[in-house]
Amino acid sequence: MPTVLVTGGAGFIGSNFVRHLLATDPQARVVTLDSLTYAGNLANLADLAGNPRHTFVKADITDRAAVRAAVGAGVTDLIHFAAESHVDRSIQDSGPFVRTNVLGTQLLLDAAREFGVKRYVQVSTDEVYGTLGPTGLFTEETPLQPNSPYSASKAAADLLVRAYHHTFGMDVVTTRCSNNYGPYQFPEKLIPLFLTNLMNDEPVPVYGDGMQIRDWIHVLDHCRGVEAAWRKGKAGEVYNFGGRCEMPNLELTKLLLRLLGKPETLIRYVKDRPGHDRRYAIDCSKAERELGWVPQVPFDRGLAETIAWYRANAAWVAGIKNKDYLGYYEKQYGKL
Ligand code: NAD
Ligand code: TYD
Repeated sequence: MPTVLVTGGAGFIGSNFVRHLLATDPQARVVTLDSLTYAGNLANLADLAGNPRHTFVKADITDRAAVRAAVGAGVTDLIHFAAESHVDRSIQDSGPFVRTNVLGTQLLLDAAREFGVKRYVQVSTDEVYGTLGPTGLFTEETPLQPNSPYSASKAAADLLVRAYHHTFGMDVVTTRCSNNYGPYQFPEKLIPLFLTNLMNDEPVPVYGDGMQIRDWIHVLDHCRGVEAAWRKGKAGEVYNFGGRCEMPNLELTKLLLRLLGKPETLIRYVKDRPGHDRRYAIDCSKAERELGWVPQVPFDRGLAETIAWYRANAAWVAGIKNKDYLGYYEKQYGKL
């Protein structure tokens, strides 16, 4: 019976993963470890209250004693989602990104090694590969060329993971996924920020010319990928996941406007993000071949379900947006 420590399990992807694992594996026990930063929210796990196979530990992954206590309490496997995750915040202040994403990963690796954790999974991002031109895809062999403090801190963590495998023979697997969307995503990222603004007839900030391309994947497809990498991945390997759904931001913005029945006059073209990566697109054929994984959620269905979720969970959104919350752009540059 695995006892899986999930770091960052009160965040967007982590909470979807914890719910997915408990629902699909009746043997699994899950310990969620999260320090509940601005992005962590126990409301994301509210439906798991009282589940005897789930426990929550409030701890910071940069606290060595707390990490050792949690990992040393019978954990068999460790899946590491916890991170500072928003590029714009890393441009404002890279300090928390280096602390959490780099130091936190080192402390988790040390504890996993000390207590003989069977397998350690590093949840990373396609952003470590840098940016693409109009053609080509990121493969697992693409050199790491991170361009933002966020992606640089994730790349540094990935290299530590690689080194612990090479040096100590630790059983590690690294996953690199494209842009996720779905329920419980913090409304600072493009899709939930735009949806929640538009639902209130508020404008949406499109950075630069809006022709940057992202490859969108539903969060549950990512969760299934992380699970497959944990269960079937080869030690020391990297697996890319993507949705095969490339779209320029402006096209996505206009689609969201159409789906919500809002006018294009709500678009605000604003100053671009410094160092903005132009295009991300993933070759996920290795995961398909070696893990038997395929993305299952078509974008139109996933997006419709996500819109329905944000409509049905107005209280969850208000709980975040009421706390003096402003999107990054407004915080930096004032009201749109
Ligand atoms: P998120 O910001 O929604 O959640 C991060 C969680 O980590 C929060 O619950 C937060 O409280 C917790 N956390 C942060 N610092 C911590 C610390 N020092 N100690 C303990 N907990 C801490 O992020 P997300 O979008 O769910 O991303 C999860 C992981 O997936 C990250 O590692 C991210 O790099 C990776 N990823 C995200 C995407 C995406 O599109 N969101 C794509 C690929 C990979
Ligand atoms: P984001 O959701 O922040 O993810 P990432 O930067 O990790 O890809 O942004 C997705 C894309 O949308 C990215 O090209 C930046 C752009 N964007 C905007 O144009 N306006 C916004 O307000 C935000 C948050 C993002």
